Amino acid sequence: MVRWGLTPSGVTVFTELQEEPMRVGVLTGGGDCPGLNAVIRAVVRKGVTRHGFDLVGYRDGWKGPLEGLTRPLGIEECRGILPRGGTILGSSRTNPFSIDGGVEQIRANLAADGVDALVAIGGEDTLGVATRLADLGVQVVGVPKTIDNDLSGTDFTFGFDTAVNIATEAIDRLHTTAESHHRVLVVEVMGRHAGWIALHAGIAGGASAVLIPEQPFDIEKVCAHVETRFESEYAPIIVVSEGATPIDGGDMTLASGEKDAFGHVRLGGIGDRLANEIEQRTGKEARAVVLGHIQRGGTPTAFDRWLATRFGLQAADAVAEGDFGTMMALRGTSIVRVPLIEGTGELKLVSAHEYAEAQVFFG
Ligand code: F6P
Repeated sequence: MVRWGLTPSGVTVFTELQEEPMRVGVLTGGGDCPGLNAVIRAVVRKGVTRHGFDLVGYRDGWKGPLEGLTRPLGIEECRGILPRGGTILGSSRTNPFSIDGGVEQIRANLAADGVDALVAIGGEDTLGVATRLADLGVQVVGVPKTIDNDLSGTDFTFGFDTAVNIATEAIDRLHTTAESHHRVLVVEVMGRHAGWIALHAGIAGGASAVLIPEQPFDIEKVCAHVETRFESEYAPIIVVSEGATPIDGGDMTLASGEKDAFGHVRLGGIGDRLANEIEQRTGKEARAVVLGHIQRGGTPTAFDRWLATRFGLQAADAVAEGDFGTMMALRGTSIVRVPLIEGTGELKLVSAHEYAEAQVFFG
């Protein structure tokens, strides 16, 4: 910036003022997800080289700004992280809105750290907090992440493709061992409210049935699919989302009564329950395999690296342009910005029509 002025003798002078670089905080919250590091790297690379940002990493999701936990974040810190799973910033399910004075604490820490704006990378909970903070005037943009792919406003979230590929490879492997032993194998995959992982991996892996949270299942029909499959000399593979429930009621199977700061109970156990039920009703040996966190760990697929990188580039631009309160989104092959509330207001669930496509292959 150049400032002009007149000296007392009437001579025009100018002083070149150094503009303060914009200081931008980055955080990753919620369950980790392959591709988080690719987003961080892209925000940093574009932020530093194109927009002159000074960046700081906040540790462990919203816990970072809440407790003032920072770490340096520049191009050097991002070397080699593109293919690495997890997040170099750490993550947590901390909810500042469930803590007395949490929001004021965040504001105070941002001011103390000289942070002008935040890039929050997360799912429904982390971006839900970002949405509320943006309404309160905090300068924040969001990047959608979740292996569950259940955020609205975007065609896909990164991490989902990796999870689907891991689950599909597992199903492929389970086919051969199930056939050798004439067993039923039940594969429990992640998906608390949405059955996207089960649906995509079930279709890709040729499952005999796919059971998802959106469509309560009839155990008698599942057993009928099992019988039909054995009749054709193949062994059935049943893919079930952790949040799926039977039509005759019953809560989602809980691993424990424990709840996180956003009120979600820990799920797990539907696979075993289903395998026992199938074995009792059909007399066929049935075993359950729980894929669990294997779906979230390790290196992201090329698609997830590509998507995460493009989200990160766009997030850096959004901050530079002051387009706060927005979430990066994939629409077709374009990366666009939508209001944060569009991503977090309502979950994106599997429709009856999409489920019907998979049902053609049941049995
Ligand atoms: O939200 C992503 C997710 O992987 C869900 O599918 C799953 O229910 C949950 O996280 C498990 O979280 P945690 O690792 O904290 O138990």
